[in-house]
Amino acid sequence: MKRTIFLTLLLTSLAGVRPLKPQVRHVRAGEMAVLLCPGCSQCSGDGAEPFWTSRAMSLTKTSSSLAEQRRKGVLLHGTSLIILRASEDHEGNYSCSFGGSNRQSWFRLTVHSELSKEFEAWNQYPLICYAQESCKLTCPDRNIPSVKTPNMSSSAIIWHKDGDPFQRDSYFSSVDEKDSGVYTCTRPYLYLGHTYNITFRVVLQVKPKKVFSVSRITQPQNNQVFYVDLGSPKVIDCKADLYSFFDDVFWLSNESFVEKNDSFPVFYNTTRVRGSGETRMTASLVFRKVSEEDLQTVYTCKLESDQQEPTFVTITLRKNVHLSSVRLASCIIGFLGLIIVTAFLCLKLKIHIALYLRDTLGCCRHAADGKTYDAYLMSYKSDADTALNEEDRKWLVNVLDEQFGYSLCLFNQNVVPEKEAVLDCVEQSRAVVLVPTSPESETGPDVLTDIHAALLKRGTRFILIDAKTTTIERPLPETLELLTKPGCRVTWRGNSSKLPSSSFCKQLRYHLPAPQHAPKLQHQRNTQDASC
Ligand SMILES: *[C@@H]1O[C@H](CO)[C@@H](O)[C@H](O)[C@H]1NC(C)=O
Ligand SMILES: *[C@@H]1O[C@H](CO)[C@@H](O)[C@H](O)[C@H]1NC(C)=O
Ligand SMILES: *[C@@H]1O[C@H](CO)[C@@H](O)[C@H](O)[C@H]1NC(C)=O
Ligand SMILES: *[C@@H]1O[C@H](CO)[C@@H](O)[C@H](O)[C@H]1NC(C)=O
Ligand SMILES: *[C@@H]1O[C@H](CO)[C@@H](O)[C@H](O)[C@H]1NC(C)=O
Ligand SMILES: *[C@@H]1O[C@H](CO)[C@@H](O)[C@H](O)[C@H]1NC(C)=O
Repeated sequence: MKRTIFLTLLLTSLAGVRPLKPQVRHVRAGEMAVLLCPGCSQCSGDGAEPFWTSRAMSLTKTSSSLAEQRRKGVLLHGTSLIILRASEDHEGNYSCSFGGSNRQSWFRLTVHSELSKEFEAWNQYPLICYAQESCKLTCPDRNIPSVKTPNMSSSAIIWHKDGDPFQRDSYFSSVDEKDSGVYTCTRPYLYLGHTYNITFRVVLQVKPKKVFSVSRITQPQNNQVFYVDLGSPKVIDCKADLYSFFDDVFWLSNESFVEKNDSFPVFYNTTRVRGSGETRMTASLVFRKVSEEDLQTVYTCKLESDQQEPTFVTITLRKNVHLSSVRLASCIIGFLGLIIVTAFLCLKLKIHIALYLRDTLGCCRHAADGKTYDAYLMSYKSDADTALNEEDRKWLVNVLDEQFGYSLCLFNQNVVPEKEAVLDCVEQSRAVVLVPTSPESETGPDVLTDIHAALLKRGTRFILIDAKTTTIERPLPETLELLTKPGCRVTWRGNSSKLPSSSFCKQLRYHLPAPQHAPKLQHQRNTQDASC
């Protein structure tokens, strides 16, 4: 003992070596404690045994017999010091050193009472497993006696869960969250007929099923085509869900990297948004102005990861034909619309146009055809409300004659015309206007019925003035129907028609041939007039 202390003091003072920090050991009262002297590199062979010192006893083999050791409940074997059944007496500092070595190791042993909570905190070995996965409970093998310890044998490990015996195998093929808890494993050692225990507390935590997530590009689709307008800006977003901090998403043009510098015509920028578990990353490919070259280029959005193989999607740009076809279609529709509107207006205004040409340019006069009069006004009896009375008829004659210069075949009003005279007048006129006359009118008898057959043969142009009835539509007499073509009808609407500019006058003039009175500037046939 003296030697040991002397050596210790000597070493500490001579070399200025501070005693090494002691290893702290906790043990439960009644259980086995094992102190292992750290290996000695200079000691040769297995045979070297350390000197153990402690507060009360010198424990080297030479100074303490086996019997003494047994009495004290302490075993020295190899580099280990075994306290078979720890008690408060064993608490304290222990040191060990090998002969000829200046190295000294220290232990501070604390013995806890059997129910000490503090000891439980020291004696905890956490184990994490994941639900639905296999899980193996392993009893720690720290600070246990060497298997070579003489006369000592170990027997099967005994497991407890939360204090209750745990009969199952310590291997779970599929562990569940309810398997979490504190498992106690006891290693029993048999030594000379007695059992000595070492227990460990394994705290198992079963975590929810591990979700192994693969980072991936969610947008765009591979080989997706984007339609663009040349010269216009365009932004194409590449979106990815990332599960590793080191994952990155970027753009390639053909095979080379696209710049992030926004002074380039094509560049990309990125944003990262943290979600629950994953990070949403967007790499936006920005074209300041889409060029012809961009249409020829393959753009690739690439995801690189330290956890998995890189993935990528390629996209191509195509010229926006969609918009120009819309333009073409709208052009065609517009053109067709214009034609329809023009045709409609021409039809609507054909009378106005024809009369305008006739009035201003004096066109469309007939060549001399030997006829004396432009028209003959022939009465027919009509009981329609708006049939022309004496006054109306005078107005009509006046307008045609004086305003528009038609030469009319007229009879003396007081003379009832003969049938032959009427036919003669028809013969001499280019057109016959059939005028509805109210029955009380004094303008002679209705000769029409008498000469009807004769008229039909002549093929004269007849223009029917149709009296508009305000009540029910009356069918025209059959004779009139036969004489006039449906197109050659003009409707008389009473007083509203009694204006030279009225629609009635225009239509009547349109159907009548141009008056011969006016200077004969043109000698061509008016085809429209000839239709009646
Ligand atoms: C053990 O050693 C430490 C210094 O390392 C000392 O403070 C302590 O008092 C010692 N304990 C006993 C019981 O001798
Ligand atoms: C082992 O036990 C036997 C008797 O039981 C004894 O003779 C022997 O000395 C023991 N050996 C050691 C190394 O304690
Ligand atoms: C050793 O542990 C077992 C199982 O826990 C127990 O039955 C036995 O009593 C313990 N022995 C001692 C000496 O503590
Ligand atoms: C971007 O590019 C321009 C021209 O190529 C250069 O002058 C500028 O320094 C670059 N900016 C960065 C941030 O690299
Ligand atoms: C990327 O740059 C373009 C053009 O400068 C801009 O419009 C867009 O908002 C930027 N996107 C991000 C995600 O920063
Ligand atoms: C990409 O390659 C095509 C030919 O394969 C070429 O026409 C185009 O210019 C290239 N684009 C860029 C940006 O180099």
